[in-house]
Amino acid sequence: MTTTVEQKATNVHWHDGDVTRDNRASILGHKGVTLWFTGLSGSGKSTVAVAVEKALAARGVLSYRLDGDNIRLGINSNLGFSAEDRQENIRRVGEISKLFADTGVVVLSSFISPYREDRDVVRKMHEDGGLPYLEVFVDCPLEEAESRDPKGLYKKARAGEIKGFTGIDDPYEAPVSPELRLNTAEMTLEQEVEVIISTLQEKGIIAKD
Ligand code: ADX
Repeated sequence: MTTTVEQKATNVHWHDGDVTRDNRASILGHKGVTLWFTGLSGSGKSTVAVAVEKALAARGVLSYRLDGDNIRLGINSNLGFSAEDRQENIRRVGEISKLFADTGVVVLSSFISPYREDRDVVRKMHEDGGLPYLEVFVDCPLEEAESRDPKGLYKKARAGEIKGFTGIDDPYEAPVSPELRLNTAEMTLEQEVEVIISTLQEKGIIAKD
């Protein structure tokens, strides 16, 4: 089951332009897509996205990263970490990803996005809009993410200084059938990037080497 928000504004209508998605793709030389990285804090979502962005730029592919911490400093600065606020965070970022993907950009969205239902809402938005969508599960065991603790947040959560921290006292629902699963315990960053680039090539989103 997926939920959608109520349409509050009435008497609003979609307005198409004359330049199509295909036109934009031929300007750029590749298609748009959303790669949705989900996983625990410290699992490596942002690290992989940064490396993929670099590999795509080297191939002349335009990409853009949307990252939990960055987005929460801007457009979503009014949202916290309750289930409702996480849902709204993911809904808004899903819509933003969809808009970016429609421009023809390869969107690299990295959000814990702990709830399956919220992620499914984003998937459906893309499917309904005829836009490619790949869920990438950055699969890192809690013990590993906690031992890395790049921002020192697990330590604070264990000490009770942060309440409702994902994996400690808040849930993380792992994807059931993601398009890609990156087993961070077994793969190097280079291998992870390679899998993502070759998947984009196989799907005809970007050109083969
Ligand atoms: S999400 O759950 O709504 O998808 P999002 O990816 O935007 O989360 O933000 C997660 C980042 O916020 C974490 O990497 C961490 O730096 C920070 N953070 C602060 N408080 C929490 C919390 N209670 N749970 C998880 N992450 C938190």
